[in-house]
Amino acid sequence: MKTPNRIAPLVALTFAALLATPAAWALPKIKVLATGGTIAGAQASQADAGYKSGSFSVEDLIKAVPQLKDLAELSGEQIANIGSQTMNHEVWLKLATRCNELLGQNDVEGIVVTHGTDTMEETAYFLSLVVKSDKPLVLVGSMRPATAISADGPINLYNGVALAANPEAKGRGPLVVLNDTIHYARESQKMHTTRMDTFHSPNRGIAGMMNTGKAFFYSQNTTRHTTKSEFSVAGFTTNDLPRVEIVYSHVNLGGETIDFLASQGVKGIVLAGVGDGNSTDAVLAALERAVKKGVAVVRSSRVGSGVVDRNVEVNDDKLGFLAGMELNPQKARILLMLGLTKTPEVKQLQQYFLEY
Ligand code: DGL
Repeated sequence: MKTPNRIAPLVALTFAALLATPAAWALPKIKVLATGGTIAGAQASQADAGYKSGSFSVEDLIKAVPQLKDLAELSGEQIANIGSQTMNHEVWLKLATRCNELLGQNDVEGIVVTHGTDTMEETAYFLSLVVKSDKPLVLVGSMRPATAISADGPINLYNGVALAANPEAKGRGPLVVLNDTIHYARESQKMHTTRMDTFHSPNRGIAGMMNTGKAFFYSQNTTRHTTKSEFSVAGFTTNDLPRVEIVYSHVNLGGETIDFLASQGVKGIVLAGVGDGNSTDAVLAALERAVKKGVAVVRSSRVGSGVVDRNVEVNDDKLGFLAGMELNPQKARILLMLGLTKTPEVKQLQQYFLEY
């Protein structure tokens, strides 16, 4: 007597069910928004330390890593093609608008932004405050140009796309990925001029690690961002962003630069102070004069990590200053700029520095 084959119909059924479920075979749809940077940079020759950022297009970048097609259904858009030292508010508004549009579409599951590393942390933090989606948004760059020996762009892009396609990356705000390491936008900081391990998260530590496309998250992002951020640049032009400048403190600094900025109508000044956000008597006196003219003043620090808290060495209550808390000067500039689009009130502005 023949034994009935009980396995074969089960296998056939499972296979048919899998085929009938698009999610089982469709790859996530990910957009690559390219802005330039070294990842798209080319040298005159491979032994050349010099190179030009933004030499390759978004299509070139995608084509250069054929393995990407196993991770996601990719399409690219060129937002800009610049070295990120020339990143500016115009490109930021264009990029933020496009991120909001695309992430609002049902057919886009995540975005990868390619970007120069010089100002990547600033763009990432700006996007974390004004993009209104919990879908993955990942910024990648490279320290070596595309034409270099052992270019790091391809693996960084591979990891970036894998992360953007990973549901675990949802709800964390923009992520910065380089050198197999994941950073939250607010924490990320470029800390070496040339090495591939240039990005660090000096205050709260890294978000996680990547291993050839596989993500391992170590921590949560507990600060306010994206869907929980009250800031928006919808409908903004660059004129809607108040001018905020940074003044770098050093031995013997006088107050002239600050007086000049206040006379030019800047709305905010961030002090990249020594130590705990401090400076010379002349600078503190000039900042006090600026506050009296209606300029918002934030004390941050040039040291690269740590907290600048209120009223430690400087009497913020008396002088009308804000403490930048964990934000480095370049990120404090962004929060102050967006904060000033909401209110000039010192108490409320200080609250932003505690929450974002
Ligand atoms: N020009 C710099 C930039 O685009 C080079 C650094 C980099 O991209 O890594 O940010």
